[in-house]
Amino acid sequence: MSNEPTEQTTGKTAGETPVAGRRRIGLPIAVLAVCTVAAIAITWLLTTIFTHKQEYKSPFTEVVTIDETVVDPAVWGRNFPLQYESYKLTAEMPESEKAYRTPTEADPRTFTAKSKIEADPRLVTMWQGYAFSVDYREPRGHEWMTLDQQLTRRMLEFKQPGACANCHVSLPAVVRQLGNGDEAAGWAAMNKMPYKELDAQTELHPVACIDCHEPTTMKLRITRPAFIEGIKEYKASQGIKDYDVTKDATTQEMRAFVCAQCHVEYYFKGDEKTLTFPWDKGLTVNNAIEYYDEVGFTDFTHKLTGAKALKAQHPDFETWNQGVHARAGVTCADCHMAYKRDGASKVTDHQIASPMRSDETVNATCLTCHHTTEAEMKGRVEQIHTRYDEAKDISFNALDMLIRDIEAAQANGTPDAQLDAARAYQRNAQYIMDYSVSENSRGFHAPGYSISILNQVTDLSRRGQLVLRGVDVTNTPGPVSSATPPTTPA
Ligand code: HEC
Ligand code: HEC
Ligand code: HEC
Ligand code: HEC
Ligand code: HEC
Repeated sequence: MSNEPTEQTTGKTAGETPVAGRRRIGLPIAVLAVCTVAAIAITWLLTTIFTHKQEYKSPFTEVVTIDETVVDPAVWGRNFPLQYESYKLTAEMPESEKAYRTPTEADPRTFTAKSKIEADPRLVTMWQGYAFSVDYREPRGHEWMTLDQQLTRRMLEFKQPGACANCHVSLPAVVRQLGNGDEAAGWAAMNKMPYKELDAQTELHPVACIDCHEPTTMKLRITRPAFIEGIKEYKASQGIKDYDVTKDATTQEMRAFVCAQCHVEYYFKGDEKTLTFPWDKGLTVNNAIEYYDEVGFTDFTHKLTGAKALKAQHPDFETWNQGVHARAGVTCADCHMAYKRDGASKVTDHQIASPMRSDETVNATCLTCHHTTEAEMKGRVEQIHTRYDEAKDISFNALDMLIRDIEAAQANGTPDAQLDAARAYQRNAQYIMDYSVSENSRGFHAPGYSISILNQVTDLSRRGQLVLRGVDVTNTPGPVSSATPPTTPA
């Protein structure tokens, strides 16, 4: 996708018109004219390209020398004050998104983001027997990521591994310290140590410049081993062997990949608690289920039904990947980090947040490609959200009923084989439901895909209910995912 088609068009017309009008004046003059015009056109083009290049790179005065040992974003900010100022703004929160609370000794925060489980009790039912049923909130700006992780009730009241820190702290210095210089060893040690021990041993800060940028060149870079491995597995599933993200990714891909180190579904593998992305079979929700079934993974046993349940988390990258924007090469940064004009230069807005937060941000993102009004774009997003919410309610109610039916069936003498079959349906229906609600765009990143996977939830839940009543549902034509009855891995 190019945002700047105007230059090319102008360049072409400037070179063509005069040539046609001078045909009768004789060859030498015509040749001279063509050459002059061509020379002017080329000079013009080069100047344009050069000015744009200059403009693209923000003016940069090296005040301090930055290398791998400089972790503090304030120091980087002396070279790049505009990026640093906007980066700090991720601490800001609109008043309407705050939930005020009385600070306690364990949790001194005076406000947090709003609770998602208070807003929808079906989430609590779905997560019975798991930490998410006690505390789960809306996300907020990056500046909060470490504090919110340290103080969630999921951390204060449950044992969590150091692997949690992968996506909530600035990583390079932490793994270097833990491994005495050997980053791979430090990463392995961090994953499996208790989070509280990690917190006591190291200084934890939110994601910083050094996590996304090469210090000397400022090029985007990948700093997370789980992503390097995950994207390699995914590319292999697409027939691309030995993919090395650091060498093989395009500049445009990097504008999504830096985010995909964290905004993805994950699990902790084995006793080593190695952070792992389930991408061996592809990036759809059904690919993830296939993966978990094959490795025999279960997050928790559902307290009300005994189903072997999976927990999904924020598959923003995988879902974006199913939509038209990804197909067109439009990345996370295009919508969440717009260019801001500052005098002659363009600067990337580092206040990463919703592009819909103001007319100014809608203008700087959507309207660079969609030639319409801010109000029209807001309306289109609103409509996608409304349709998504309606579809979600239908499928969430179906899942809720399946859970209650299994609970009741356990007490009324329903045969074990039927109960187990229904629990297997619950495992899959619940994973897809969870995947859908923990994705953060309420359908926007891939509208068609999001509705289609919600349909699967409804279908799987209703099949589970029918199985409890002794109905044979295996021969019913239906989506591929539910044509074969699911089984729970041992
Ligand atoms: C693969 C990266 C990744 C890992 C690992 C990870 N998180 Fe997160 N976490 C995120 C992202 C991205 C968000 C913001 C999006 C969202 O809230 O869905 C988030 C949001 C949160 C939030 C705020 C919203 C909420 O859920 O209440 C808390 C608290 C949190 N994580 C705690 C944890 C804990 C505890 C662990 C370890 C069990 C953990 N995280 C592991 C990426 C990760
Ligand atoms: C979450 C990842 C992330 C973090 C953290 C981050 N950046 Fe960036 N930064 C980006 C992306 C994405 C771009 C756009 C790069 C491109 O298009 O090639 C960018 C671009 C830049 C550029 C190039 C000029 C421009 O404005 O486009 C500079 C300079 C920069 N960032 C400085 C910083 C500084 C200083 C910090 C810390 C205060 C920082 N960045 C933190 C992702 C990040
Ligand atoms: C190191 C992991 C990490 C990286 C890299 C990362 N994020 Fe996040 N992001 C998080 C976490 C964690 C949160 C939630 C913080 C909280 O709620 O305290 C979050 C929150 C957000 C939010 C919600 C902000 C709000 O105001 O509600 C958006 C939008 C977002 N990230 C987009 C991005 C984009 C786009 C990129 C890439 C340029 C990116 N993130 C890179 C971990 C990450
Ligand atoms: C074409 C534009 C576009 C692209 C590309 C895009 N997003 Fe979004 N994103 C949106 C919109 C629109 C929303 C909904 C915001 C709203 O309703 O306020 C959203 C919501 C989010 C949220 C929740 C924000 C909040 O305030 O709670 C996160 C996190 C997020 N996106 C991350 C990503 C990541 C990571 C990528 C890349 C893998 C990405 N987005 C790609 C437009 C985009
Ligand atoms: C860099 C260019 C670019 C940006 C920025 C961009 N879009 Fe798009 N958008 C596209 C393209 C290309 C398509 C696909 C058009 C097609 O093939 O029909 C598209 C399609 C859409 C669709 C139809 C989705 C579907 O699944 O059919 C919506 C809605 C949309 N964009 C909204 C937005 C919003 C809202 C923003 C800003 C947050 C935004 N876009 C930013 C290029 C962009």
